[in-house]
Amino acid sequence: MKVAVYSTRSYERPFFERANTDHKHSVTYLEPRLTTGSAVLANGYPAVSVFVDDDASAAVLRILHAGGTRLLALRSAGFNHVDVAEADRLGIKVLRVPAYSPYAVAEHAVGMMLTLNRKFHRAFNRVREQNFALDGLMGFDMHGKAVGVIGTGRIGEVVCRILTGFGCRVMAFDPSPSQACRSMGVEFVTKEDLYARSDIVTLHCPLTPQTRHMIDTTSLARMRPGVMLINTSRGAIIDSLALIESLKQGHVGSVGLDVYEEEGDLFFKDLSADVIKDDVFVRLMTFPNVLITAHQGFFTREACTAIAETTLGNLAGFESGSVNAENVVTPKMVV
Ligand code: NAI
Repeated sequence: MKVAVYSTRSYERPFFERANTDHKHSVTYLEPRLTTGSAVLANGYPAVSVFVDDDASAAVLRILHAGGTRLLALRSAGFNHVDVAEADRLGIKVLRVPAYSPYAVAEHAVGMMLTLNRKFHRAFNRVREQNFALDGLMGFDMHGKAVGVIGTGRIGEVVCRILTGFGCRVMAFDPSPSQACRSMGVEFVTKEDLYARSDIVTLHCPLTPQTRHMIDTTSLARMRPGVMLINTSRGAIIDSLALIESLKQGHVGSVGLDVYEEEGDLFFKDLSADVIKDDVFVRLMTFPNVLITAHQGFFTREACTAIAETTLGNLAGFESGSVNAENVVTPKMVV
């Protein structure tokens, strides 16, 4: 099938080329992000593949549709960057990669907890400057700490498993609690209870209208003083301004962010010679107790292999009329 792959990065291409040896799709790799301006590049392509920083809003989808696109193949699990209702109305099928490696993201989230706690980032720099003093590097035992996991789907479940292994007391909130988590001893509680009792809160739910700014001034105030907050899900689950205020007041103890609500203009690019105009992001970068990574939770060899294989498999399924039902994104999933 003929497919235009937007936002192709050099590191992705070998995985796609390897996965395409059997499929033999006709793949055009495009470096630009999908936007209203670049959508015409897909003219005549029945399939378009996009990543999380591409814009698949209604206006863009209408341009793609006019150019003959009938399949949007997401190289991600999340689909908050897609106007799914408009795609449905236009008859554009949206297929995603629902699970590529929950381990990649879960391990990144736990890595952030360990880094913030034991301050590896600071220790690394100190030792290179021959400063072997330990002042300011003290952490705490993870063993016995209360960790609140919001969202116990594929990634949240792996996080629970790792933290249970550490000897943490794991509690969780999810409108559809996971049986697997219950059986490993995770206690399901209300969101308010989780905020009030957790030493660490980690977010693993999707971005939906219900979860947008779920972490705001009110929920932050309910959390324990000194709480560690980890977000590897989607940036807009946290109200960044409320988070900055809470950090300034010294209420939130430390924060690990792999995602940011306005990351579209920043992440996945080398801006080292540019002036960053997003003052909120720049303020977040100034806190010594905030660790930011640029949406790299998914970034393991295993995950990239699975993303390429499932994406190209989705094209084959669409062509042969046998799509994997689990990979289909429908408007019902957005409510
Ligand atoms: P999943 O669909 O397997 O699990 C999501 C869970 O969240 C489900 O159990 C669902 O019931 C729960 N949920 C839905 N609404 C909720 C709410 N209001 N409060 C609490 N829980 C709620 O998804 P998966 O694979 O575990 O991924 C989770 C999120 O991680 C994705 O939506 C995506 O945004 C993010 N992600 C981030 C990546 C990264 O590189 N940083 C890579 C892959 C996913």
